[in-house]
Amino acid sequence: MAWSRTLVTSALPYANGYIHLGHLAGAYLPADMYVRFLRLNGESVLYICGSDEHGVPILIAAEKEGKTPQEIADKYHFANLEAFQRFGMSFDYYGRTTDPVHHRTAQEFFLMLYQKGYLEEREVEQFYDPEAQMFLPDRYVEGICPVCGYERARGDQCDRCGAYYDQLELKQPVSLVSGKPPIVKKTRHWYFKLSQFQQALEEYVEAHSDDWKENVLQQVRSWLKQGLADRPVTRDLPWGVPVPLENAQGKVLYVWFEAVLGYISATKRWASDKAQQPEVWQQWWQSPDTRYIAFIGKDNIVFHTLLFPAMLMAAENYILPDNVPANEFLNLEGEKFSKSRNWSIDLRDYLQDFPEDEHVDMLRYALAANLPETRDSDFRWKDFQSRVNNELIAAFGNFVHRTLQFLKKNFQSRLPEFPEWQELQTVWNGIWEQRSKEMLQTTGEMLTDPEKELLQTLLDLDQSIDSAYRHFRFREATAATLDVAKAANKFFNDSAPWVSIKKDSAQAARTLYVCVHLCAALSTLFEPLTPYSCQKLRQLLNLSEPLPWQSAFRLFLQPGHSCQPPQLLFHKIEDSRIEAQIAKLGEGSSEAKSEEVSHSEEETENLVSYEEFSRLQLRIATIVKAEPIPKSKKLLRLEIDLGTERRQIVAGIAQQYAPEELIGKQIVVVANLQPAKIMGVESQAMLLAAHSDDGKLALLVPDASMPPGSPVR
Ligand code: MF3
Ligand code: ZN
Repeated sequence: MAWSRTLVTSALPYANGYIHLGHLAGAYLPADMYVRFLRLNGESVLYICGSDEHGVPILIAAEKEGKTPQEIADKYHFANLEAFQRFGMSFDYYGRTTDPVHHRTAQEFFLMLYQKGYLEEREVEQFYDPEAQMFLPDRYVEGICPVCGYERARGDQCDRCGAYYDQLELKQPVSLVSGKPPIVKKTRHWYFKLSQFQQALEEYVEAHSDDWKENVLQQVRSWLKQGLADRPVTRDLPWGVPVPLENAQGKVLYVWFEAVLGYISATKRWASDKAQQPEVWQQWWQSPDTRYIAFIGKDNIVFHTLLFPAMLMAAENYILPDNVPANEFLNLEGEKFSKSRNWSIDLRDYLQDFPEDEHVDMLRYALAANLPETRDSDFRWKDFQSRVNNELIAAFGNFVHRTLQFLKKNFQSRLPEFPEWQELQTVWNGIWEQRSKEMLQTTGEMLTDPEKELLQTLLDLDQSIDSAYRHFRFREATAATLDVAKAANKFFNDSAPWVSIKKDSAQAARTLYVCVHLCAALSTLFEPLTPYSCQKLRQLLNLSEPLPWQSAFRLFLQPGHSCQPPQLLFHKIEDSRIEAQIAKLGEGSSEAKSEEVSHSEEETENLVSYEEFSRLQLRIATIVKAEPIPKSKKLLRLEIDLGTERRQIVAGIAQQYAPEELIGKQIVVVANLQPAKIMGVESQAMLLAAHSDDGKLALLVPDASMPPGSPVR
């Protein structure tokens, strides 16, 4: 198939949290490298992403923070957009699923499937939390697995034995919203007849058995083997895209159903706002000569290889993903990313400590060299440092620097003239036009030995880099790109211009003529990895645009072309900076300490700024219920009234207070602490108490009755 254009999407991140390094390495950096590579190859590319702004987590976050879901979505949408831009993600459009264009697109799509008969209304029974007055989405019920008896099985899936079952089969279910057992209530939903696509999807997947990644094929095949069931694509929720049917009040489209359509609606936005041709979106989604690549993390495989393709098949006229290069997960210093344990590096955190353009490039490079492509990989600060200092700087930065330094010292920063420069250009460029090693043999007598060796190496690397990018092997592309910089250094060493300058300055001139061109080539080859530094490098070379990939290695400058005096592209990362980062991990997290609430935490001497302090939401709460937690001597489960809502908290006060004496008491709580599980019970706030060395404990209480929810400052 000869493709005319490539559409690239990255999974739309949920707008309920900040993007961290793990996300970046999963679905964004590889996609950005890929689109930059294709663009440099002169290919027609469109890169689409955006925020996924619906779904239950945003709704719950909003309730917890006393904000509207839209406010939560706005906050994270703009923060993530900014972080992505800073990290050089070169989206053509970054949309959002609360955009009216998206709502309309998703509703039209739903209606289209409805009219074609792919949606069926069914009456079903579901868990309902009478206290929270809501039907419970799968991830908000917990109970005993009907298959293996695991006690904390979730909604429709058991994390221990992997079984899938209907919500209602869960034994002793508990709502995670109120902490109480839910009731069973009837409701109606529209089911997408996914089962009808079983065969078409099998054929689709097997047609890609050669080009999809092993991890992707494995997962999809196992799903197909289980057999595809029809799936409800509507939910009873107050937040989302309303179901566009008359008898569907209070119902919204299932977030996954509409989120994947966010790729299409963002393309529509791009077409009308940026390209100024509203209809052109169809070319990207409906033209068979468009190739579509969907970058995702491994938790999104099913949706992008089965559900979304089936939806597109049902709609007809749409193209399907040609590849879905899903990455595995990135860990951090050997452990999973976890925000509640403060075991995470958000892009914002990184930028605070590493604010310069060169730092952005360093992180891009270090992540690219270590992407979780075939298995989970690990981000370690020490590796980061050594990748930066011993690879990026030692090879790339160093070569550029020694070249420009030599040029300044010996040739006033101008490309020097030497007698046979035109002949060299002809032979050299001829070899690159043909990408031909034979030609290197036949016309080679005109080249010096270091030049021949260099060209041999570059011809090989050029091919492997191209093939690595085209097969989504970005680590390999990164390693081979670094090898180009190493080959350039070797050429500099082997040619030893600092020797020849003393007896044969024409020879030194020739070496430098080649080296400056190598710098120009590197500014193209490193562009997908380190775009900021490549731009800076081109400024130093007085070049405006990156060279097209195909002609990156051509000799094209006239002798006399002037460059700028050298400036370091990168500065070494010192040990102290790395140690500070390592020390920060896990700091100040509650769960990282003991499972039970510990009362012996040492007070730190560190001063906090007013801003830090004001991030804590301290509030008055009234205790409405208190009960012991089975198997724990110290812990009680409390239910508190915060004025606008009720929450449960787990508090280590059982040895000092009896449950009965707590009812009705007013206390002070931290209302915006990350929820944490303690002895299997979620604690949704933390109460404040004074502790003495000999184990005495006293609750902090207001000295007059206050309305619950009152802020404490
Ligand atoms: N928001 C989802 C996640 O972060 C991904 C959605 S991808 C989409 O896991 F295509 F559905 F938008
Ligand atoms: Zn189980």
